[in-house]
Amino acid sequence: MINLTTIAKFVIRKTLLILIIFWLFGVILFLSLEVSDREHLTISLTEESTSKCRGEGRAVFCEYTNFCVDRKNGAYIVNRKDISKLANVMNADQNIDFFWKPKVKSRYPAKAQYINDTLFAYGLYSPVHFSHWMFNGLLPLYSIMRSYNATRNAWLLRIHTYRHQPIRMIPQDISFLTDGKEIVFDSFDTLTEMQVLPPKVPICFAKAVVGFGNRCSLNYCENNIPAEHYEQFRKDVFSHFIHNGQWELYKQKKYKDQRELACIDSTKIYAPIVSNDKIYHTKVIIGVLQRYHTRHILNADELIDALVKQNYTVKFLNFDVGCSLPATAKLLEDIDVLITPHGNGLGDAIFMMPKTTVISIDNRFYSEAWFTYVHTASGRRFYNFQCDSGDCQVADFELAQKGLQEDGIRMSYHDLLEYLGPKYPYRLIEKYYVGDDKSGYDRYAKDAVRRVDVEKLVKFVKEIIEEWPMVKNKSFIELCEMGKCCGPWCSDALKKNVFAKGNAWGGVERPIDAETVNWKAGN
Ligand SMILES: *[C@@H]1O[C@H](CO)[C@@H](O)[C@H](O)[C@H]1NC(C)=O
Ligand SMILES: *[C@@H]1O[C@H](CO)[C@@H](O)[C@H](O)[C@H]1NC(C)=O
Ligand SMILES: *[C@@H]1O[C@H](CO)[C@@H](O)[C@H](O)[C@H]1NC(C)=O
Ligand SMILES: *[C@@H]1O[C@H](CO)[C@@H](O)[C@H](O)[C@H]1NC(C)=O
Repeated sequence: MINLTTIAKFVIRKTLLILIIFWLFGVILFLSLEVSDREHLTISLTEESTSKCRGEGRAVFCEYTNFCVDRKNGAYIVNRKDISKLANVMNADQNIDFFWKPKVKSRYPAKAQYINDTLFAYGLYSPVHFSHWMFNGLLPLYSIMRSYNATRNAWLLRIHTYRHQPIRMIPQDISFLTDGKEIVFDSFDTLTEMQVLPPKVPICFAKAVVGFGNRCSLNYCENNIPAEHYEQFRKDVFSHFIHNGQWELYKQKKYKDQRELACIDSTKIYAPIVSNDKIYHTKVIIGVLQRYHTRHILNADELIDALVKQNYTVKFLNFDVGCSLPATAKLLEDIDVLITPHGNGLGDAIFMMPKTTVISIDNRFYSEAWFTYVHTASGRRFYNFQCDSGDCQVADFELAQKGLQEDGIRMSYHDLLEYLGPKYPYRLIEKYYVGDDKSGYDRYAKDAVRRVDVEKLVKFVKEIIEEWPMVKNKSFIELCEMGKCCGPWCSDALKKNVFAKGNAWGGVERPIDAETVNWKAGN
């Protein structure tokens, strides 16, 4: 009995002690939070928010003062009148436009963190797709931040994501943009240290910019990204992630995702066997980016052999295994000519030096001009290399059958042979694709396995390398005026990005010489 009461007393005393310690901790924690909150609170939140919008229609974007975000209310401004206006936060096709405005509240929260800087509210288009993420998302965002002289304390607010597949997304570090945080509304978007959910205690910014003014280098955007923003973007990425020891630091970081560096480990270098490394050619690096799911180049090995025989060094790349933005930049930094099947990888060339060359290996019956736009704006030479002969065509049965199945088409075996044969299958498209959408064959041709005309391509690469001293001496605009900056089908891109008013190169209208013919690869 005596023992039990002693134990009970002992337990009670200990429990009390622990409670007191916890209570003290709580008080200290509370006080420290209060202090840090008070540091951020300022008198400026007594003024009502203001709004000012620029541009019209799809190109409208808005500036606000005193713009707050919290978990309960989302994003809002404070004013007795509804001064909030819709702005387009997307930079893509018109049907993807997304107009958004903040809520309006009549009173400021009693307590808020105040950040005396700008919040950039933006939208992303298909972020799992590297080139859409880059050219319809990050570069427009970068461009508006430069236009507003954003500081390293600016914050970001992701308003909208079109074609959202966060599970497929490699966690991408975008800290080269700013040291501030990126507020996202869904927890599955918090992929790196930079993303945070809206806080419980409201956070108010001195200023916010919503939208970009519909700016991108593609035909469907009303405004443009200045060429110098591409160059600053490249420099910022290199100084933040690669140069001055940054790359070593980045590599040592504990990754969340092994795909970030997978492309580095899978890269193979094929160097010519030459005794004298002073030979100019050995300093030329040709990047060959292979693809393994679709658009595979069946004879990439022949191409590599032929390039190495020319005494070029070949960097054989594979991004299908995964590649982060810093790793992409690192791999592309020293490449003089990048060769890859039409697709995502063509966009990686923005990390190559200005006036270097990008060659798209297109299917015999499918080619598109998307990348002529981004490269005429960013100042890379871009060529569609399409093979005119049946030698480059490969019948990709598996892909064709998958596509036909998705389109609900049952084709006889003999028709299928003809469909995948050496002639463009007009007859069979008419026969099987009833209705308006006849794009099934195009979708097949875009993704089908292909061969490359090695002889013609190597000849073209040699011409490009031999032209370098001339190219080095000219401005990108001069090259375009000579018909030497893109080809063969790039006149629309040249018009928007180089010659028409509002172009990427200073915006002033330049005369177009109707006689100029854009260089065709392999002629
Ligand atoms: C916010 O920063 C600007 C300079 O960027 C300064 O002039 C202003 O006084 C600051 N406002 C507050 C409330 O700290
Ligand atoms: C950014 O800075 C430039 C150069 O100092 C200036 O001309 C421009 O007006 C600034 N832009 C904004 C939106 O403050
Ligand atoms: C490549 O280098 C070797 C060794 O220096 C030389 O003999 C050969 O002619 C070079 N080939 C070409 C195509 O320049
Ligand atoms: C490049 O320009 C310099 C002077 O600006 C000139 O001396 C040289 O000949 C030019 N080189 C070529 C290959 O055009």
